[in-house]
Amino acid sequence: MAETQRPVSLVVLISGRGSNLKAILRAIDAGQLNATVKAVISSRAGAEGLRWAQAAAIDTLALDARDYPRREDYDRALQGLIEGFAPDLVLLAGFMRILSADFVRHFRGRLLNIHPSLLPALRGLRTHQRAIEQGLREHGASVHYVTEELDSGPVIIQTRVPVLRTDSAETLGARVLQQEHGLYVHALQLIAGGEIRWGDDGRILYRGRPLTQPLQVTQPSDTVCTVD
Ligand code: GRF
Repeated sequence: MAETQRPVSLVVLISGRGSNLKAILRAIDAGQLNATVKAVISSRAGAEGLRWAQAAAIDTLALDARDYPRREDYDRALQGLIEGFAPDLVLLAGFMRILSADFVRHFRGRLLNIHPSLLPALRGLRTHQRAIEQGLREHGASVHYVTEELDSGPVIIQTRVPVLRTDSAETLGARVLQQEHGLYVHALQLIAGGEIRWGDDGRILYRGRPLTQPLQVTQPSDTVCTVD
């Protein structure tokens, strides 16, 4: 895989556990991903996930929503913080806030999210519980570019996880999460290697051609890590 010369620079936004962030940091550390994390910004000062960044001596910042009663003001402050690091990409990794349209437009083509469902199915929250309630046989996760409409941007790559008859939201969610770790890394590897690009017309380009269906990962990646 041909890699771009310089690492893809990232700012990662989190709100809590940060296991996807941890998987990304591990992949970088292991030389599996040609990227560098410039900063991790949390919407909560005490977010557990900040420790992974601190352990890797990466700048961490917390931007508390309570200091910004108006969403637009919060998002403008967030945008300013992010642009201070001039990243190639901004990753949402469990960032539990809805972003305003101006913010999303500003980062168009540079903003990625991981969502725990096979989009366009199950946008929004409680996806594991809803997958069980709806009797779905298959569930999974998607990495997508973010557009103004919630969980609706073009999907780069998905991973599928069978729903077992014995599953609870917790057991299903744990299996999906384990797959997410490899999935986000995989999507970033494709971008770092120049295989996936955001086309100016709002479509994803895969090896120079419009991607008509999301790529699919069927095998667990060796970048899977556990949450502890
Ligand atoms: C993941 O399930 C992700 O898909 C969703 O939020 C969760 C974040 O988990 N957007 P973590 O903080 O990365 O452990």
